[in-house]
Amino acid sequence: MRANSSPAVSEDRRVFLISAAATGAAAVLSGSLLSACATAISYRGDLSNGRVRIPAQQLSLIADQPGLLVDAPGLPEKIWLIRAEDEWLAIGAQCTHLKCQVRPRGGFISCNCHGSTFQIDGRVIRGPASKPLRRYVVQVVKTLTDDTTHDVEIMIQ
Ligand code: FES
Repeated sequence: MRANSSPAVSEDRRVFLISAAATGAAAVLSGSLLSACATAISYRGDLSNGRVRIPAQQLSLIADQPGLLVDAPGLPEKIWLIRAEDEWLAIGAQCTHLKCQVRPRGGFISCNCHGSTFQIDGRVIRGPASKPLRRYVVQVVKTLTDDTTHDVEIMIQ
């Protein structure tokens, strides 16, 4: 029997082909900087001089969303950009318990892995996580074209 026809190898090959297909689909989808999954809109930006800038037109797309999941090569983690009252919050998306991705919903941030719940500013409400989510500095940047719109920069320090 040839090695590549054994059940274990066939299963590995099947998994590889599924992964390759998923990667290809992801590559097609990543042609757009903005993408939406089941319940979250994400934005892939660039980290430059310790900052990721999110343009105003991207922010307008999340008016009815709990937040925008920001990612960029070089970030320590993905970051949720959340509109809270009249300010922007940038909260790390990695749970401080065992690093699952948290998600804002219903005025809180929750982790589906083991049920930790956080305030919208990252403070722990319920464990097992005992440390707050990392909070990043946000700076609002007025655009030159319009006084009513603004870009937002997340600063990594
Ligand atoms: S990883 Fe989030 S509660 Fe365990």
